[in-house]
Amino acid sequence: LVLILDFGSQYTHLITRRIRALSVFSLCISGTSPLSSITSLNPKVVILSGGPHSVHSNDSPSFADGFVDWAQSNGVFVLGICYGLQLLVQRLGGEVRVGEKQEYGRMDIQVEKNCGIFGGNKVGDKQVVWMSHGDEAARLPDGFEVVARSQQGAVAAVEDRDRKFYGLQYHPEVTHSPEGMETLRYFLFDVCGVNAGWKMEDVMDEEIQVINNTVAPDDHVICALSGGVDSTVAATLVHKAIGDRLHCVFVDNGLLRYKERERVMETFERDLHLPVTCVDASEQFLSKLKGVVDPEMKRKIIGKEFICIFDAFAHELEQKLGKKPAFLVQGTLYPDVIESCPPPGSGRTHSHTIKSHHNVGGLPKDMKLKLIEPLKLLFKDEVRQLGRILKVPEPFLKRHPFPGPGLAVRVLGDVTEGNALDIVRQVDEIFIQSIKDAGIYDSIWQAFAVFLPVKSVGVQGDQRTHSYVVTLRAVTSQDGMTADWYCFENSFLKEVSQKICNNVRGVNRVTLDITSKPPSTIEWE
Ligand code: XMP
Repeated sequence: LVLILDFGSQYTHLITRRIRALSVFSLCISGTSPLSSITSLNPKVVILSGGPHSVHSNDSPSFADGFVDWAQSNGVFVLGICYGLQLLVQRLGGEVRVGEKQEYGRMDIQVEKNCGIFGGNKVGDKQVVWMSHGDEAARLPDGFEVVARSQQGAVAAVEDRDRKFYGLQYHPEVTHSPEGMETLRYFLFDVCGVNAGWKMEDVMDEEIQVINNTVAPDDHVICALSGGVDSTVAATLVHKAIGDRLHCVFVDNGLLRYKERERVMETFERDLHLPVTCVDASEQFLSKLKGVVDPEMKRKIIGKEFICIFDAFAHELEQKLGKKPAFLVQGTLYPDVIESCPPPGSGRTHSHTIKSHHNVGGLPKDMKLKLIEPLKLLFKDEVRQLGRILKVPEPFLKRHPFPGPGLAVRVLGDVTEGNALDIVRQVDEIFIQSIKDAGIYDSIWQAFAVFLPVKSVGVQGDQRTHSYVVTLRAVTSQDGMTADWYCFENSFLKEVSQKICNNVRGVNRVTLDITSKPPSTIEWE
C-alpha cells in the first residue's frame, strides 16, 4: 500500500490516481490523522502531499508526532511533495524560508546527482516540471542532500537515502511535469521496491467476498437505482455476490429524459438481469411540484417524496418476504469519503465533504438499514472499469451525469407550466442525438437543454409566433466542480437550432449558454 497524507493540495487525488494507474493500490487520508490510523494501514510508502499552507503559519497542518520515528524504524519510504517536502525539512530540524523568488508554473530543473530518486531517470539531467510554491528549503536536515535545483537555484529535489526520506519541490503528478509519471514509477518500483499487481478484477473479487461475509444467507438487500453509472455498477456487483436477494427499485418521478424509463429498464433487465421494480410516481411528484418555483424547495420536495416511495417499497418487500431487508446499497465513491485537509479560510471542515443535495435518496426513516458501499474506495474512471468487467453496456458507462432532481432543475420555475417538460425532453433528445452523431459525446462532460419560462416573438411559416425560448448547455470538466463551456463548430449549432425549431412545437428561439463554472453552475437551478 502507498498511503498519501493529504495536506490540502488540489492535486492530492491525482497522486492517488496516478499511483493506482501504475497498478499499485493507494489510499489517501487526512495529513493530520493520528499515528495509529497510519500504522494500522501498514504502508510501505507514505507520500506527504502538497498544500496551500506555509509551514510558518500557526494553523499549518502537520503529520502526527512520532511519524518520522515510526517510518524510520519500520523502513517505510517517505516522499514529500511541495508543502510535504517543506514540512519534512522543517520537522527534521532543517529550515524553510520565504523564497527570494516565488516559483509558479513551468520551470526547468537541473539534476545534480543522478542517483536515488533520479537514478533510473532516462530523461537526462534536465527536466521541465510544474512548480507552485512561495517557501523554499533553505537549510537541509543532517543526512539530506540536494539532488536537483531549479533554474533559479532553489532546491527542487532532496533525499536522505539512509533514512529513506525523499522530497520533490515540484508536482510530479501533474501532466505539466512530463517526466513526473516516469519519476514516480522509478521511485515506487526501483527505489522503494513496491510490487505492481493491483487489478480491478481483484477489487471485484475482494468486494464480492466482503459482501458475502457481511450479508447473512437469509438477509435481503435493497437498492435505489437512479439510472446513473454508480448505482448501476454497485447494484450489479452486489447482485453478482448475493443474486436475487438484492431488490432494486427505479422510480419514474416524471422528471426523466426522453424515453429514459424504457431505455434504462431495458438495460437493467435485458443486459444486466437485475431484479428491478419500476414505480411510476410521476403524478405524485408533479402534483407536489405544481406552482413551486424556488429551486431549493423543488429539491426538498423531490427528496422527501423519494424517501416516501422508497419507504413504501421497503415495507411492501417486508410483507412479501416476512422479514425486513437488512442492508441498503449505495453507490458512494471515493472522492465523497476522502477526508482532506481543507485550505484555511475555505470554509470546509475536516469532516466528509459529501454534498448533501447530491444524495438522491437518503435513508428511509425507520428501516434501520445498514449500508453496503462497494465503490467507496474507487474513483469514477475506476467504477467505469469495474462496470466493464461486470458487462455493463459501454454507452451506459459513458453517459453524461444527470442530476437526482432531473428535469426539475432544467425547467426554470414551475415544472408543470404548459408542456415545459415535454418541450425540454424533445429539445434535449435532438441536441444529444446530434452530439452523438457528430462523434463528440465523449469529449463533453455534460450536455443538456434548459427550458426558459419566457416567450419571444418569432416568425414561422409566414405566421407570427409567440413561443418559448430554450437554451443549450455543454461543458467540459474533470469532476463537475469547475467547468468550461464546450466550443461547438458553427455548422453544428446551425443545424441543431434548425432541427429544434422545425421539430419541437412551442419553441421559436434557441440560445447557447457560454458561461463557465464559476461564475455559473453547470445546472441552471
Ligand atoms: P452544479 O450545477 O452544482 O452541478 O454545477 C455539478 C454537478 O452536479 C450535478 N448536480 C446534481 N446532482 N442532485 C444530483 O444528484 C442535484 O441536486 C444536483 N445538482 C447538480 C450536475 O448535474 C453536475 O454534474
